[in-house]
Amino acid sequence: MTNTGDAQRGEWRRTHTCGELRSEHVGQSVRLNGWVAKRRDHGGIYFVDLRDRYGITQVVMSEAVAGDVKLSPEDVIAVHGTVAARGAENVNDAHETGKIEIVVERVEHLSSSKVPPFELVDDLDTAIETRLRYRFCDLRRRPLQRNLAHRSKFVNAMRRAFEDEGFLEIETPILSRATPEGARDYLVPSRVHPGEFYALPQSPQIFKQILMVSGFDRYYQVARCFRDEDLRADRQPEFTQLDMEMSFVEEEDVFAVWEKVIVRTFKEAMNVDLPIPFARMRWSEAMERFGIDKPDTRFGMELVAADEWASQSDFQVFKSVVESGGRVMGIVVKGGKDSVSRGQMKGLEKFAKDYGAKGLAWWKPGEEGGGAGPLARWCEGEQGESLKARMGATDDDLLLFCADSKNTTWRVLGELRLHLGKTLGLIPEGKWNFLWVTHFPMFEFDEAAGRWFSSHHPFTAPEDWSLSGDPASLDSRAYDLVLNGWELGSGSIRIHRQDVQQKIFELLGIGAEEQKERFGFFLDALTYGAPPHGGFAIGLDRLVAMTLGLDNIRDVIPFPKTASASDLMCEAPSTVAPEQVEEVHIELSASARAELARRAAKD
Ligand code: AMO
Ligand code: AMP
Repeated sequence: MTNTGDAQRGEWRRTHTCGELRSEHVGQSVRLNGWVAKRRDHGGIYFVDLRDRYGITQVVMSEAVAGDVKLSPEDVIAVHGTVAARGAENVNDAHETGKIEIVVERVEHLSSSKVPPFELVDDLDTAIETRLRYRFCDLRRRPLQRNLAHRSKFVNAMRRAFEDEGFLEIETPILSRATPEGARDYLVPSRVHPGEFYALPQSPQIFKQILMVSGFDRYYQVARCFRDEDLRADRQPEFTQLDMEMSFVEEEDVFAVWEKVIVRTFKEAMNVDLPIPFARMRWSEAMERFGIDKPDTRFGMELVAADEWASQSDFQVFKSVVESGGRVMGIVVKGGKDSVSRGQMKGLEKFAKDYGAKGLAWWKPGEEGGGAGPLARWCEGEQGESLKARMGATDDDLLLFCADSKNTTWRVLGELRLHLGKTLGLIPEGKWNFLWVTHFPMFEFDEAAGRWFSSHHPFTAPEDWSLSGDPASLDSRAYDLVLNGWELGSGSIRIHRQDVQQKIFELLGIGAEEQKERFGFFLDALTYGAPPHGGFAIGLDRLVAMTLGLDNIRDVIPFPKTASASDLMCEAPSTVAPEQVEEVHIELSASARAELARRAAKD
């Protein structure tokens, strides 16, 4: 019987979800609502997989019961019927409802569906653009439904944990001034203030510090952040932080709160027990051992310094690099004599060069005739023995070396280590290696811009408040939380003294005038009794993606943007009526107008 639209008040509404019914319900009269996931016809009998976000239930009806209800894929229907046990041979273990089915007495058609643009199956290899264009269909698929449900559970558990630790959830503005976090701002033109703009927050950083000045000593927020930057698998132009700030604390107090919150969240949302405290490592140690500030500590193959060996060797390339202040370091691929072929070596050399290496010197000491590889001739006799000893290598291994500036050597070997870890299958599954990386450098020098930048952000406290010495060697009180080689979050102990904050701005090339213009209100707030404070923000999208084993945060965001920051479903960004542009006192440039005209002609 069909019944669209009218006469549907009340009676059609579900008594159970499609994931709920079990053997103990056999004999009960029920009503289910859902989408037609699949229909099979068996000589006058229809078997329909009825789906909602809770699961799939098989419903069975005769042609006569179905009447003129078409039961096309993705139609929405209501069925009235009785729960029946399936015969042992018909049990379907793929579904939790697989031991029962509904014998339908009446079916109502609630809504029709066009043929979906792709099949709504779990494993889909449809182009991402199509999926995003029809995101309403894509989101109906089980993996995405599961991801968003997990996200909700996860965020809720975190919220409860922060509440129980005495934190207040406080919202900060979206229309505000620029907060420097190193990306470009998204700007919003003002209608009532001609020529003026709001900036969308790159983070709530300045507001949360002001909340500390105002005495809200434990703040947190599920905060949307906006950054106009190059997008990658782990970056979206708008994303969510679990942001927090605390007063009267030092690093260990912030770490302790987060460890508690994360342990509790993993237990509640995933039933995973995490050991605490998490490991801690200084930035300098992370770079020296792993070549990267977000080490994946699930496997070894650490970098080993060979500078001393190099300086005594006859290999001029290495020797001169050390003499000119660079580094020679290497990694040992255990068993690499046999597991890495000559052909693969070519690939590794290319990989290293892509990351900026001038070459990748290698040695297989166990090959006949003093070993194989370009380094072999410099590793004869005692030279070779001492290199093996230094590297902790045996004749079964492959040794790889890079000689370059310190930063290039770290980068090349750090990336090579990760690459080999993945391709040689050295990374164990099921490990949650959390790591606090501490003591980041205060500044980084940007050669192109010819000035210093904050490694974290300009509100980060220095280790030494006097700021004496070379800016290059100043340590900061910034820290990152790393999980299995991903940067999950960042934070720092902050500068709560106005004089120090001003000095930092000066070091960053922000003069007195500009300070006043951009940060006057903030510098002012610091002079009204700012408590010592510090905080942290975790990238929620990254954390949720990692806990689901996903490597693209897009899959935990309901309506994500493409690599060119477009929303393909609602087609944002978009043009607006000329009056609207005028209203906000904007005039399009000639090149923007030409681009619009070009696109209009193409359509
Ligand atoms: P930071 O800029 O390091 O620190 O950001 C904190 C965390 O946010 C996540 N994140 C992103 N996630 C998705 N897409 C992006 N484009 C993106 N950018 C950052 C990362 C990152 O570790 N205000 C400081 C925190 C503080 O000092 O308290 C801040 O925003 O997981
Ligand atoms: P060359 O003397 O330039 O022919 O280099 C001999 C070997 O050393 C080649 O395998 C190069 O890839 C390697 N090599 C050259 N420069 C470097 C470097 N800076 N670091 C590591 N290996 C290098």
